[in-house]
Amino acid sequence: MDNFNLDSLVRPNIRKLKAYSSARGEFQGNGDKMMLLDANESPFENGLNRYPDPQHRGLRARLSEIKNISEENILLGNGSDELISLFFNAFCQPREDNVIVLPPTFGMYEVQANISDIELKKVNLSEDFQPKVDAILEASNANTKMLFICSPNNPTGNSIEIQKIEELLSQFKGLVVIDEAYIDFSNQPSWLQRLKEFPNLIIIQTLSKAYGLAGIRLGMCYASKEIIEVLNRIKLPYNINSLTQKKALSKLENLPLIQEKIGRLLEGREFVMDQLLKMDCITKVYPSDANFILVQFDDADTRYKELIAKGIVVRNRSTQSGCSSTLRLTIGTREENIVLIKALKELI
Ligand SMILES: Cc1ncc(COP(=O)(O)O)c(C=O)c1O
Repeated sequence: MDNFNLDSLVRPNIRKLKAYSSARGEFQGNGDKMMLLDANESPFENGLNRYPDPQHRGLRARLSEIKNISEENILLGNGSDELISLFFNAFCQPREDNVIVLPPTFGMYEVQANISDIELKKVNLSEDFQPKVDAILEASNANTKMLFICSPNNPTGNSIEIQKIEELLSQFKGLVVIDEAYIDFSNQPSWLQRLKEFPNLIIIQTLSKAYGLAGIRLGMCYASKEIIEVLNRIKLPYNINSLTQKKALSKLENLPLIQEKIGRLLEGREFVMDQLLKMDCITKVYPSDANFILVQFDDADTRYKELIAKGIVVRNRSTQSGCSSTLRLTIGTREENIVLIKALKELI
């Protein structure tokens, strides 16, 4: 993108803001050899008596190694949810700016826009759940700060075409946030390796899905050094607690185990998909690059209630645009998938 000017996208008050300088943020020495009397912590060691590293250096170093991205291009958040909230705080002036989302999509972008009092422009995906590039560009104006693209998309499960994203990255005047929460289940490559090409690109990923750590709340943001610097200015100093940092690091030590779990979920997805295609109460099964499948039923509301009565909770997505009478089914363990299929067969 030519003439990209990050400063013009940053909220005026944030442009001038200086980050809170915490004790552990300033301190760069060798912690083992120093006596720490700077942060009014308890001196009695119990493994958690010290504040966590606000820069998450260990975790960022490991992610840098795994993802082949420089540490200065990485920022961590309390789940992707916190990262999305940071983007609004950094770039969107309440009651002045707007952002674009592409329904049907992940609901948190809209929730955050509402919390931040930011206008939300909706440009629906096409019937095959791809972005309408011209309509998106037409909907944007000088106050459009961000465009959210979810790929693979929740709740539809499909990946967004590379060429469409390329067009948007080069023509959209604001920041393009690509949410790759489900990228580990997709055959499409992540946009990470193309970060250098696009100064307006922000990628978010999470440990909540393929890595099996939704409970620790760890989201990753990858962007230019300049964007990361702005976000660092506004993030709370100790946003990732010590237990989360420790658990994430230990999980990231054993990548083959994570791959093995992803493989099992992909097998499960194939099994569930095959079975769904044979059922009479189902009118459409959407292809999936994620760990869930969007399914159109003859009567989703009724089927939803029937599944609940059988002790199975799925997500009714029928009110989402382009998703009438659909349920979103998460892939479970082999046993759970078998129980789900059996329950669905009993509905017929
Ligand atoms: C597309 C998408 N992005 C982000 C998230 C949330 O991620 P996190 O758990 O890191 O906040 C979800 C959760 O369902 C999601 O579907």
